[in-house]
Amino acid sequence: MGKKRKRVERVEATNEPAPKKQNSSTDPPPGVHHYQSVEEVPWDIQKYWNQGYSIFSKYDDGIWMTDDSWYEVTHESVANTIAQHVAEAVPPGRPIIFDVMCGVGGNTIAFALSGKWKRVYAIEKDESTLRCAQHNAEIYGVADRITWLKGDCLKLLGLDGGEMDEQARSFNTLASKLGVIFASPPWGGPGYRDAEIFDLELMQPYSFSYLYESFKKLSPSVALYLPRTSDLRQIAKHVGEDKKNQIVHYCTRGSSRALCAYLGDWSPLKLGNL
Ligand SMILES: C[S@@+](CC[C@H](N)C(=O)[O-])C[C@H]1O[C@@H](n2cnc3c(N)ncnc32)[C@H](O)[C@@H]1O
Repeated sequence: MGKKRKRVERVEATNEPAPKKQNSSTDPPPGVHHYQSVEEVPWDIQKYWNQGYSIFSKYDDGIWMTDDSWYEVTHESVANTIAQHVAEAVPPGRPIIFDVMCGVGGNTIAFALSGKWKRVYAIEKDESTLRCAQHNAEIYGVADRITWLKGDCLKLLGLDGGEMDEQARSFNTLASKLGVIFASPPWGGPGYRDAEIFDLELMQPYSFSYLYESFKKLSPSVALYLPRTSDLRQIAKHVGEDKKNQIVHYCTRGSSRALCAYLGDWSPLKLGNL
């Protein structure tokens, strides 16, 4: 994105107030912004400002972001390619996808736009972040294809070891019978940015093993979006002796942004023409 976005420049040219296109009847909740120029952006996320249209091509339509989400969101081209792969590789009889840590909606929106799913379930534990995802999905015209759930996905899906309430039991049953699980977890942990090979067991707050072992209780088809430097040997340990699983790097401008591990039951991906 330029220093100022196009709409602002147009306003300066005509000297009229900006025709603010708002897709939500409410103002952004606390901690949520639609920055309109680089001067408004906190210094530590200014480097992401120039990637704005790559994050959401409809940014100018009023996309909402929390400051943390600039680091975490899946860029639109990557999210769309993942959505295409998940749609191609999903085994028959699983028409529902759960994006269990949906953030501000990068992947959720792409899954809904793919038109593949009977229903997309999006879970996010942070209220403001979930509001961003809902609002952003409205901008992309897909909010009504998504069921939004606020809370800890492990609890909501009955995977936290506690007693399941009625709601958890029904989501657990739905996911077990008909669902695939996609998770784009936080990648925090010592050395994530610097490590040549990232130790997935140090990923915080949830290690790779913990997440995969939890989600596979729910569905045989789990896709995890992980750092590009992830230690593939740690992933391989979870693949059965005589089994093969697919791991795909997703690149922008010629370098890998991240990888997605398609674990358990998935059909072979067609990886040409990307
Ligand atoms: C890497 S971000 C997801 C980014 C998302 N793919 C996007 O494109 O916006 C991870 C998100 O998981 C959420 N999260 C972390 N633990 C969670 C949990 N137990 N249940 C639900 N959401 C969780 C965080 O609040 C954060 O928004």
